[in-house]
Amino acid sequence: MDSVLKLDVQRIDMTYDDGGKSFTALSDVSFAVEKGLFVSILGPSGCGKSTILNLFAGLVSPTGGRILLDGEPISGAGLDRSVVFQHYSLFPWMSARRNVELAAKQAFPEKSSAEISGIASGFLEIVGLADFADKFPSELSGGMQQRVSIARALAMDSEVLLMDEPFGAIDTKNRVALQDLLLSLCERGAEKKTVVFVTHDIDEAILLSDKIIVMASGPGRVQAEISVGFKRPRDRVSLVKEEGYVSIRNRIVSLFYADIADKIGGGEVVI
Ligand SMILES: Nc1ncnc2c1ncn2[C@@H]1O[C@H](COP(=O)(O)OP(=O)(O)O)[C@@H](O)[C@H]1O
Ligand SMILES: [Mg+2]
Repeated sequence: MDSVLKLDVQRIDMTYDDGGKSFTALSDVSFAVEKGLFVSILGPSGCGKSTILNLFAGLVSPTGGRILLDGEPISGAGLDRSVVFQHYSLFPWMSARRNVELAAKQAFPEKSSAEISGIASGFLEIVGLADFADKFPSELSGGMQQRVSIARALAMDSEVLLMDEPFGAIDTKNRVALQDLLLSLCERGAEKKTVVFVTHDIDEAILLSDKIIVMASGPGRVQAEISVGFKRPRDRVSLVKEEGYVSIRNRIVSLFYADIADKIGGGEVVI
């Protein structure tokens, strides 16, 4: 079956005005995100990952090239794309439930309060927070707040989920639990969402993705596109024993660190 392109990045450049000087954050970046796939953008800090996500979200426009969403240039933000940011972006004056309800109401203005409340309860339960629905963000740990952000994004039922290092600021134990949660959410259901997931964590990218776009910095550009064909459902313990896991990981490690080693003047990097 031919795959349908959800997002088509065509030779984009992104130049920021940096206090009067122009700064090239992205140079000649092209790649595609196929409908229904989980695609990670992996690269070191500063290579333009957030810039790409903000372009997909329609919050900024490229200075060169174009990005097509369902074949049409992106012209702004839309309810067809929901975003989970690295830093918890909940409204602090609203309970977890109200935060999720607000997003659901925005996406489904025709639904009654009872239906909206049902949607919010359902997604808070899925992310394991049924008992914390009436807590305010300040009463929740970072991991819990990020669960609310995920519930909020899911409650909008948008076709595209954009996630910018959503687990970057979370401790290892909670991070593993959230990765497993996201993995199970993405693997169930008939109509799979298209997910663009930004990370600088190689193992996280392999675990979750169907495809990884490996980026390099200075200026931000695509170094390689790597298909990750391991069968689903996946779990982290058996995945690492799959044939081909070590070679795919080594390939990404060498791409990733060749870029950094160039900049710090080092040779081989082993992790
Ligand atoms: N609004 C902006 N103005 C000027 N420079 C920016 C702006 N946003 C990002 N940059 C610069 O562009 C580069 C890429 O940033 P970003 O997309 O945030 O990278 P990443 O998410 O990979 O860390 C960085 O060098 C950053 O300092
Ligand atoms: Mg970033």
